[in-house]
Amino acid sequence: MAIISSKEMLIKAYNEKYAVGAFNVNNMEIIQGIMDAALQERSPLILQVSAGARKYAKPAYLMKLVEAAIEDTGLDVCLHLDHGENFEICAACVDDGFSSVMIDGSSLSFEHNIAETKKVVEYAHERGVSVEAELGTLAGIEDAVSVSEKDAKFTDPDQAAEFVERTGVDSLAIAIGTSHGAYKFKGEPKLDFERLEKITKLLPGFPIVLHGSSSVPEEFVTLCNQYGGKIPGAKGVPEEMLAKASKMGVAKINIDTDLRLAMTASIRKVLTEKPDVFDPRVYLKEGREAIKNMVAHKMRDVLGSSGRL
Ligand code: G3H
Ligand code: 13P
Ligand code: ZN
Repeated sequence: MAIISSKEMLIKAYNEKYAVGAFNVNNMEIIQGIMDAALQERSPLILQVSAGARKYAKPAYLMKLVEAAIEDTGLDVCLHLDHGENFEICAACVDDGFSSVMIDGSSLSFEHNIAETKKVVEYAHERGVSVEAELGTLAGIEDAVSVSEKDAKFTDPDQAAEFVERTGVDSLAIAIGTSHGAYKFKGEPKLDFERLEKITKLLPGFPIVLHGSSSVPEEFVTLCNQYGGKIPGAKGVPEEMLAKASKMGVAKINIDTDLRLAMTASIRKVLTEKPDVFDPRVYLKEGREAIKNMVAHKMRDVLGSSGRL
């Protein structure tokens, strides 16, 4: 068992019409909760680390935690850098032993994004590491948004095809209406499935990635708020839309916010209901269990990745 690249994992998911969950991690309990879920569900998985998480947990701790997770469960794990902002951080993660990196050049011009991505692809591929890139701007679709506004933000299908061809990247994150965090849509949730279909037609067999794919389940928002939290009006991507996307060429789906919500809601509950508790193990254990249940639910009921190992 080992740290494995995402290349074969995502092609298998694409071919079999399901998506691999990419879950953000930054401490031991989150990693353990996700791994326990994957073991129970016999599901492939990606553990992803943002620059902020890398700074918080420190690279050496993260590597050892992931190695321990593999030893403990006997599962292969893809360890992925989420939103690498330049070549330097991507190369540092490749050198640390990550098996996959994302170069996020989505805020750059098309040509500059291509140049940065190519540089990372060259470095990573020589070392057996897969690369994800991003094209388009993540933003929710507001009810009144015009076609030209959509075209300006969302991924252009022809550009996506040209980008993949010219960079040799292994997967591409696209913008079709998802966005990061707990406040994704002002009106009704909507994704541009027509655009997704156009992109996959131009890129047959090529794995597409969706960021900003938390569903922000109402019960967890309510639980957080019930126990002293303040996250009013949070709204995410309905699970049916993610299930649909995972059958249409989306092979990797990124989830962070829902894990944060699950863990925080359960910890708030324990601390409120048992004010005498001050042993961190008591509430972190609840947090870990909440992560496990949330991830198992995603694998089984949303992504369709259960039983695929
Ligand atoms: O897409 C961003 C992820 O949710 C990571 O967030 O930068 O706060 O660790 P972070
Ligand atoms: P959410 O904020 O919807 O969980 O998205 C996470 C993400 O895209 C990480 O890259
Ligand atoms: Zn993201």
